[in-house]
Amino acid sequence: MPPEAFRREAHRLADWIADYLTDPGRYPVLSQVKAGDIRNALPRSAPQHGESFDAIFADFERVILPGVTHWNHPGFFAYFAISGSAPGILAEFLSAALNVQAMLWRTSPSATELEEVTLDWLRQLLGLPEGFEGVIYDTASVSTLHALAAAREAAVPDVRGAGLSARPDVPALRVYCSEHAHSSVDKAVILLGLGHDALRRIPADEEFRLRAQALADAIAEDRRAGRLPVAVVATIGSTSSTSVDPLEQIAEICNRERVWLHVDAAYAGVAAMVPGYEWILRGASRAESLVVNPHKWLFTPFDLSVLFCRRMDVLRQAFALTPEYLKTSEAEAGVRNLMDTGIQLGRRFRSLKLWMVLRHFGADGLRARLAEHMRLARLFASWVDDSAIFERSAPVPFSVVCFRLKEDGKQDTSEARHARILDRVNASGEIFLSHTKLDGRYVFRLAIGNLHTTAQHVKRAWDLLNAAAAETAG
Ligand SMILES: Cc1ncc(COP(=O)(O)O)c(C=O)c1O
Repeated sequence: MPPEAFRREAHRLADWIADYLTDPGRYPVLSQVKAGDIRNALPRSAPQHGESFDAIFADFERVILPGVTHWNHPGFFAYFAISGSAPGILAEFLSAALNVQAMLWRTSPSATELEEVTLDWLRQLLGLPEGFEGVIYDTASVSTLHALAAAREAAVPDVRGAGLSARPDVPALRVYCSEHAHSSVDKAVILLGLGHDALRRIPADEEFRLRAQALADAIAEDRRAGRLPVAVVATIGSTSSTSVDPLEQIAEICNRERVWLHVDAAYAGVAAMVPGYEWILRGASRAESLVVNPHKWLFTPFDLSVLFCRRMDVLRQAFALTPEYLKTSEAEAGVRNLMDTGIQLGRRFRSLKLWMVLRHFGADGLRARLAEHMRLARLFASWVDDSAIFERSAPVPFSVVCFRLKEDGKQDTSEARHARILDRVNASGEIFLSHTKLDGRYVFRLAIGNLHTTAQHVKRAWDLLNAAAAETAG
């Protein structure tokens, strides 16, 4: 593409994106296409000859855009609602243009050192002590995988050299988490060769928090049976209900038992920067590692997950490996090479977007937005609490409300009716909600996390839910 054409198209895209971000609500939030629509609208093979950007962009608007579910839509309340904020988008544009691959310090000193500085800013905002060093991965799943790989490295002698198979000297290994912990913990133990059976899910209390005593009992029972406890994963902001595990008690047990404590604060960890919410990470200073996802609730475009680790040396011991062609003189002099802290060699320049987001909003701006989302969630929860039709299914510590049809013996509260209500409101194109199960029962989840979401959008969601409940009654 000649430079002048690039300039023209970049201006056109800047205008298009600015319009889009001004009013993403003009599109249906949940894509209305049917399975196969997008695939069938596209040619089966790549074009033989190059095409104009005009033609390509026209197809983006005509074919691709209808198949987009708009995470930027203010009516997006599903899963964990997120925002790719403007400063983060601009940083992604720059990052793509620079096309930096940050495996080694010398392959872009700025990428390496900006990551170090920006993550230290974030560490301070979260109130974590100085000993925690940060590293950026794509997702929390990958952060947790690395944390548990480090735990395995610390617990099993020479696991790096000898592996796990055919080792009579290695007892059965165990990892513990709440019954409400995220499925990424399951995937990590599977991938690390511990076997899925190595994961013990500990029962939770009536507010969906891991029971610390049950954890202590499980560890004691496993030790008596000759099994080796390797790690505990505590969740701060569980996926279904955003419950907060009792971190201080869990840390006490882990320190006593000398078991690696990993904290999954992927969604809710950022709330620790809001005055009054510091308590959620109390005890984290005694953990070995903690994951938090700026791409979830810190207005950073997907993807960017941060693993903070107090024993990064163990992670390096697990993964550092330098073939001849990657040796550098400055590494010998002691600079940090990001390839040493993980399984991937190549790495994107992700810190640029977090740096720009932190600078654009400032700590006060971030705190104000997080606090507003939590206020809106409490407002919605108050409507649910006053409702004759719906009832709340869990406490609301952050910005997610779990609720379901009221069990009053007068209305149909079957799973099928819940699913019909969800389908109806999602078909409106105005809002998008998802569901989960708590105590075996279907519940709706309303998650607030988008920068454009206001009380008006939350009220509209409430009205649509009530209308759908009325339409599906009787
Ligand atoms: C508590 C928790 N941990 C981990 C994850 C996985 O996040 P990611 O998509 O970044 O792997 C999620 C996703 O929602 C989550 O809620």
